Amino acid sequence: MTRNPIRTLPDQLISQIAAGEVIERPSAVVKELLENAIDAKSTAIDIRLEEGGTSRIVITDDGIGIVQKELMLALTRHATSKIYSLEDLESVMTMGFRGEALASIAAVAKVSLTTRTANDDHAYAIDNTSFEIKPSAGDFGTRIDVQDLFFNTPARRKFLKSTSTEFGHCVEAIKRCALANPHIAFSIWHNGKPLHRWIGGSLDMRADEILGAEFHAAKLPLQIGSELIQLDGFIGAPTASRARADQQYIFVNHRFVKDKLIHHAIRSAYQDVLHGDRQPVLLLNLSIDPELVDVNVHPAKIEVRFRDSRAVHQFVYHSIKDRLAHGAGQSKIDDAELSPISSEAISPSPSNVTREIQPGFKGSSFNQNLRLHLPVNASVKTSMEQLLSSNHSLSSSHTSSISNMKEEADYPLGYAIAQLAGVYILAQNQHGLVLVDMHAAHERVLYEQLKTHLGSQIAIQSLLVPVVMNASRLEISLVTENQTLLNELGFDISAMGPEQLGIRSLPALLSKADPVPLVRSLINDLDEIGSTQMLDAAKHERLASKACHAAVRAHRLLTTPEMNALLRQMEATDRADQCNHGRPTWIQLSVQDLDKLFLRGR
Ligand SMILES: Nc1ncnc2c1ncn2[C@@H]1O[C@H](COP(=O)(O)OP(=O)(O)OP(=O)(O)O)[C@@H](O)[C@H]1O
Ligand SMILES: [Mg+2]
Repeated sequence: MTRNPIRTLPDQLISQIAAGEVIERPSAVVKELLENAIDAKSTAIDIRLEEGGTSRIVITDDGIGIVQKELMLALTRHATSKIYSLEDLESVMTMGFRGEALASIAAVAKVSLTTRTANDDHAYAIDNTSFEIKPSAGDFGTRIDVQDLFFNTPARRKFLKSTSTEFGHCVEAIKRCALANPHIAFSIWHNGKPLHRWIGGSLDMRADEILGAEFHAAKLPLQIGSELIQLDGFIGAPTASRARADQQYIFVNHRFVKDKLIHHAIRSAYQDVLHGDRQPVLLLNLSIDPELVDVNVHPAKIEVRFRDSRAVHQFVYHSIKDRLAHGAGQSKIDDAELSPISSEAISPSPSNVTREIQPGFKGSSFNQNLRLHLPVNASVKTSMEQLLSSNHSLSSSHTSSISNMKEEADYPLGYAIAQLAGVYILAQNQHGLVLVDMHAAHERVLYEQLKTHLGSQIAIQSLLVPVVMNASRLEISLVTENQTLLNELGFDISAMGPEQLGIRSLPALLSKADPVPLVRSLINDLDEIGSTQMLDAAKHERLASKACHAAVRAHRLLTTPEMNALLRQMEATDRADQCNHGRPTWIQLSVQDLDKLFLRGR
């Protein structure tokens, strides 16, 4: 057999191979150039694209610029001003650090760079055909002009999609940078026409500009954390959930990430109030000591690795869950909900649509252990019977609520006046009219009660014949390492051979599930986040459907005391303003809202 000799690759080819990782389409060029402009402390960035960025991308910033003698280096691989040592890398706060982006772009496109620092009398320019540095006209800052992307790598060029698709990706990349840096002004042009102009300001403003009215109406401000870790931004109310996860902007130290761990924490936090496949809208920045996160794990830096992933998971999970867990009395009326009657008649007032920021980090939980709700079979049954017989749960508390009737003003949800269409409760409180979807409200009350009543001991379903599944060595070692945890959860799983696992028992609540995929996803979770929240998710689905089934069905007539009892229970229940499916359970129509509906006082 002939053997090919080992040879070193030519520089240009090395760069083109490296560029393949960093620059896969025009939006990657946009992202890299924007990050450079951000690192250069720019306050305004101008972005001009032609044909979706495939034929030309010109980005101009007003940042610190590059000194003449470093111009050549800026285009050289592995040359950077952002880190000089491993220690620097470990605490990096800039977007860039590899010294690779410009060189990669220059390997696959025609690049010219014009720049001027505060000390220069005029600008300098360099391009990647002649590599000559020439004096040039230009303002303070840097302008990079990238033309004919992939002109010299035709195979890559073929992979480009339509102009509009590539343009869409570019706009998305710009949005991400703009949302992470609201203080910077952005102007965007496509084929010579102005598209967007976002002035520098607060995150609130930027979010409104980019994410629009729907997000504005849904956003709940969140600001929580300690010196080491903070979460800032907005989370969407469950009522504004979407079918797709297309409005989830998560940043780690202002870097956009698609991080499995964070997304898992978010999904878990929402699972109480959101139906399985619905996606919340989110705009959140996680600030964390840079030494506690490794940003150098992905070629496009879109993934990160946390040193203490469990702590981060817990922090994100509890911060969001706490923020969502508002008691009744703080629901809001959404303009959209009134629109069938008269959308113009009600002007959106900011006090209607935002909730106040939750100050500081509440005693709950940075290190709080997960509460496991897997129940004992018998106790579930009795507590379910107790709780779910709607007559019982309603009447038992109505007597007490009537006996100590207080001033109307004391009850946020007021007093029941009537029942409408067998579906809605009409109540009066100090602000005006409260409308309650009684089925949804009762469902929420039951669900929360169910969770707090569930025992901490777990009912186990033993399997007569162990289920054998094939497993990798990694999977087997994960199971062995996490024996105690698995037992606690009601699983008895052990190695049956070098590449086999035997499942001997499951938690009773999950006994109808197919054990193999269940265990596989459990192991997967153990691997990814080292926690067991996957089980929580499975359990929640079931609890939610049970609660739903048992809740007061619509069209049942309730007596006034029964309705009042339900209102009192809602007030005492966390998250009573959301039903399990993310629908609102009640809305407030203030007297002013009613006046507006009738055009009073105009
Ligand atoms: N817009 C700019 N303004 C000022 N300096 C810039 C700008 N763009 C690039 N530079 C300089 O050029 C160097 C190389 O940029 P390049 O993007 O290739 O690498 P990097 O940003 O250091 O790292 P990374 O490859 O991770 O992006 C930067 O370190 C910076 O000093
Ligand atoms: Mg860079």
